[in-house]
Amino acid sequence: MRDDNLLVGTEYPDDAAVYRINEDLALIQTVDFFPPVVDDPYHYGEIAAVNALSDVYAMGGRPLTAMNIVCFPCHKLGTDILVEILKGGAKKVAEAGALLVGGHTINDDEPKYGLAVTGIVEPGELFIKGGVEPGDQLILTKPLGSGIITTALKGEIAPAYLLEEMTHWMTTLNKGAAEVARKVGVKTCTDITGFGLLGHIEEMIRGSGVDAVINVQAVPCVEGVLELAKEGIVPGGARANREFLRDKLVFAEIDEAMLDVLCDPQTSGGLLMAVKKERASEAIHLLKNKRLSYASVIGEITVEKGKGQILLR
Ligand code: CO
Ligand code: CO
Repeated sequence: MRDDNLLVGTEYPDDAAVYRINEDLALIQTVDFFPPVVDDPYHYGEIAAVNALSDVYAMGGRPLTAMNIVCFPCHKLGTDILVEILKGGAKKVAEAGALLVGGHTINDDEPKYGLAVTGIVEPGELFIKGGVEPGDQLILTKPLGSGIITTALKGEIAPAYLLEEMTHWMTTLNKGAAEVARKVGVKTCTDITGFGLLGHIEEMIRGSGVDAVINVQAVPCVEGVLELAKEGIVPGGARANREFLRDKLVFAEIDEAMLDVLCDPQTSGGLLMAVKKERASEAIHLLKNKRLSYASVIGEITVEKGKGQILLR
């Protein structure tokens, strides 16, 4: 069935579904949940909520309500841990200015937690994944490395300082980043999650007849992540992303480990936005004021080959 009010549905990859209610208002709907990525239940709850809310911010919207989705082995782990997870989630929903209005819990051997989030946006202010133009500057608002660090954590070899640093970023809402994006007139935006930085860039330029030139030196990652990647501590997803992008990547010479970092699947990653050249330095300044200290221009859109390729320099 077709409905012209469905502005974003399942036909094209995007961060959330968008349904227009009237000329001035559209609903954004999204859902995300996953097993624990860190050991601390409270932080896990925070990360899951920040990640679920992120897709609303990536569409330029404001979250209104959220509902918990919980799978939990109460008989095995007891309810104290679950309470901590839910407290962490509730804290981030409140920080986002949204309301937690319900949820559903089932028994499951492996815990999983996340939320279904509803937000609103003015149809004219909607961010989409496509629509980039030559000259657009690509800005990333959080450092990379969460997939590699959580993989190290599973092997019990994640240095404590690294985990602490990454947890800080995974629990940082993309609210401030989205506010800056709106202020500098962004139209194209997405959040970095499972496909890694390069996978999400590929989605952004797909079918647009443009290429992306990435300045690899400028891509922010948490200090110590490259060293872990050099030791081969890389999640399977990073390799799958690399394989998927094989025909799209153009480079002369690049460190193998850096390529893994660029393809590392992120949990609760930052926003990737295309900003007009003349607004880019303003955007970076505003992002740093929001304490997004790693925010950087990592590359730009060109028509060098016009084949939807990612040129790594
Ligand atoms: Co997303
Ligand atoms: Co998502």
